[in-house]
Amino acid sequence: MKTGLERLRLTNFRSYPTLDLSLGHSGEPVALCGANGVGKTNVLEAISYLTAGRGLRAARLSDLARHMGDNVYPLWSIVADIYTPTGSHKIGTGMVAGHERRQIRIDGKTTTKQSDLADVFRCLWLTPAQDRLFCGDPNARRRFLDRIVQAFDPNHANRLADYSAALKQWLCLLREGRMDNAWLNGLESQLVENGIAIAASRLDIVSRLASFLDVTEDVSFPAAEIQLTGMLEQALISQRAVLVEDMFAGHLKNARKICAEGGNLTGPHTADFVVIHKQQNRSADLCSTGEQKALLLSIILAEMRAQMVEQNQCPVLLLDEVAAHLDKNRRNTLFEILLTRPAQVFMTTTDREIFSDFTGQICQFDVQDNQQILKVA
Ligand SMILES: Nc1ncnc2c1ncn2[C@@H]1O[C@H](COP(=O)(O)OP(=O)(O)OP(=O)(O)O)[C@@H](O)[C@H]1O
Ligand SMILES: [Mg+2]
Repeated sequence: MKTGLERLRLTNFRSYPTLDLSLGHSGEPVALCGANGVGKTNVLEAISYLTAGRGLRAARLSDLARHMGDNVYPLWSIVADIYTPTGSHKIGTGMVAGHERRQIRIDGKTTTKQSDLADVFRCLWLTPAQDRLFCGDPNARRRFLDRIVQAFDPNHANRLADYSAALKQWLCLLREGRMDNAWLNGLESQLVENGIAIAASRLDIVSRLASFLDVTEDVSFPAAEIQLTGMLEQALISQRAVLVEDMFAGHLKNARKICAEGGNLTGPHTADFVVIHKQQNRSADLCSTGEQKALLLSIILAEMRAQMVEQNQCPVLLLDEVAAHLDKNRRNTLFEILLTRPAQVFMTTTDREIFSDFTGQICQFDVQDNQQILKVA
């Protein structure tokens, strides 16, 4: 049996007052089809909240509640029935009166740890906003990398949060001219400890992913190589961690003056990576738009395989605007690959014709104006 969603219910989530979508047990790929603005991406986003974090749009919590007028935020909820080869689960998440953070229930039990979700459900996604990932904002690229790392190392998210909280305080003290040495030293110790662990974990996961990235399922989705370019990540390749710790501690001390004057600090929070298209021996930012999309898909497909082998769990895949930038051959090859996956895949499109060669294999739904979603006969 595959892993997938049997049923998804939404209440006051984004554009949906209510939605009750039944998907059965078949695990067939699901295609959500419809015109612009009918509510396709909102459904994928709802599914992405069955995992830890801020979903596929990295949205603010207040944006998720259905708009009902100024300053009116109704309580919203997402409930999903999940099946896996080892059993069924029910996940619920949403806002509950009296709580400021989204609440999570797994099989009837409330939990405060979002990371518990990974025990019963995992998903990966690609969105149109990521189509220019290799050329655009390094912060988005780093978030993409860190999500991959988190899937294999659940402590990575906590370390990132602790590092970023310490960095914020450290910069604040310096920029306000509060040269409290003991306080600054304490924060620098936290930055060094978490910073080295973050960089080491990135390096470890990228090297574990390498063997999966080297295998192509089809030439349309090229073999890729990820090279980390961050200062600590680079140093850890050739030096022992204790030496890199000393180096970063010295770097922080030296940076105090520059940061006090408004300058910036480099570290794991500015780390970046380069992806190489192996067949062409060219970095991804020089590849064509369609080639870049294919490389992204190669990375996601490799991550899926790695999670299956290393974690014994196949993540559900969310592909928003699946057809964007892909020619017909590449698109059809992708659908063929997705059909072999042991987890459900959700795709959205404005053009149902793209599935014409896959009638009966891909389950198509017509999304109707943020109200209902009907199976196409
Ligand atoms: N909090 C909210 N409350 C009500 N409506 C919202 C909220 N957030 C977004 N919407 C609206 O939901 C509608 C559907 O958005 P969605 O992104 O799902 O569309 P889509 O079908 O993916 O369209 P496209 O093909 O253009 O990507 C949009 O009109 C959007 O403005
Ligand atoms: Mg959309």
